Amino acid sequence: MTADLVIVGSGFFGLTIAEQAATELGLKVVVIDRRHHIGGNAYSEKEEQTGIEIHRYGAHLFHTSNERVWEYVNRFTTFTDYVHKVYGVHKGEVYSLPINLATINQFFRANLTPGQAKELIQEQAGELAGTDPQNLNDKGIQLIGRPLYEAFIKHYTGKQWQTDPKDLPAGIISRLPVRYNYDNRYFNDKYEGLPTNGYTAWIEKMAEHPNIEVRLNTDFFDESHEYSKNKVVGNIPVVYTGPVDRYFDYAEGDLSWRTIDFEEEVLEVGDFQGTSVVNYNDADVPYTRVIEPRHFHPERDYQTEKTVIMREFSRFAEKGDEPYYPVNTSADRERLLKYRDLAAAEKDVLFGGRLGTYKYLDMHMAIGSALSMFDNKIRPHFESGVKLE
Ligand code: FDA
Repeated sequence: MTADLVIVGSGFFGLTIAEQAATELGLKVVVIDRRHHIGGNAYSEKEEQTGIEIHRYGAHLFHTSNERVWEYVNRFTTFTDYVHKVYGVHKGEVYSLPINLATINQFFRANLTPGQAKELIQEQAGELAGTDPQNLNDKGIQLIGRPLYEAFIKHYTGKQWQTDPKDLPAGIISRLPVRYNYDNRYFNDKYEGLPTNGYTAWIEKMAEHPNIEVRLNTDFFDESHEYSKNKVVGNIPVVYTGPVDRYFDYAEGDLSWRTIDFEEEVLEVGDFQGTSVVNYNDADVPYTRVIEPRHFHPERDYQTEKTVIMREFSRFAEKGDEPYYPVNTSADRERLLKYRDLAAAEKDVLFGGRLGTYKYLDMHMAIGSALSMFDNKIRPHFESGVKLE
């Protein structure tokens, strides 16, 4: 088909634009993705030996307080009543996270009331009161006091960044949540749950419209197909959700990312850890956390002889690695401003999604910003001829 709109990337951002353009405007949309599957980083599939659904690019928990996004996503899937909770291991003991009154009382072997706990943490945080911390270590101590910071934040953060927190900028954290009650729900959003039939079923439903054609294993920068950059830009409007630095051939330098290596293992036990996510907060364990995906869907009839776990190892990304979290150094921010200028000058190409904007976006944010781009740019362009910029 001859496309009215070409979308590079079949993640939530690209597919939301594709779905809206096809459904609302009747446009013919071609979505290309260089991977062998749709869905971007939210893609999930069955692990072969166990049949358990695994999130291929790391645990994905859906949550939002955005009414419009919630209404929109419910057009494609229902959600289970899964509520996310995280536990953490420190010195051989399991604690409830994020830090709450249960964590504090267990850690200090105490029976503190909310008021007493607050007083204690304020007193401990007072160690660096009135100073202007220049590194993450001092900032952490100033926010929650040394004992809790060193037990639950210091080494975990060090492993995430593969860097001693004393050498990380203080700006990485602005607050560390401490709850002075026993609420250990991980997210505070109004809506939360997992897609009942899995992420891939949800994502496929978004791409179901007959006006949407998805071409997999198709790289925008590969000249061998008809929707490559050189053939399309200037001829057909494009929404680009790949890395912004790659689009401009790294002309202003590389933007830096962190990535995660997943070590997957099938175990001959029905249940390995009794919950979906356990963090390892100490330095002597090299991984940051262990995910056991069977617990994302306790309502499913999974087999009970085996389970699958994924250990996560975090590090700086090199060329060829999957870019996961923007590092956002001051050099990155300077480069990003230059890329933004280049992107703004690119005729009939819109940049979106986490890679196209170099921003960490949760799924609901990616979907919400795609809905806004559709309303504010795509619809006015196709309905009233407003320039795409
Ligand atoms: P996404 O990366 O999904 O899609 C971009 C697509 O573009 C990819 O499929 C890629 O292959 C394609 N592409 C790139 N270059 C191309 C090229 N040259 N040619 C063709 N195709 C190209 N969110 C949340 O709400 N809850 C959670 O629990 C988590 N957990 C989580 C864990 C980890 C480890 C990460 C990294 C991220 C999360 N997220 C999350 C965030 C979530 O993954 C994110 O919101 C979505 O991936 C954003 O969708 P996008 O469409 O922007 O990008």
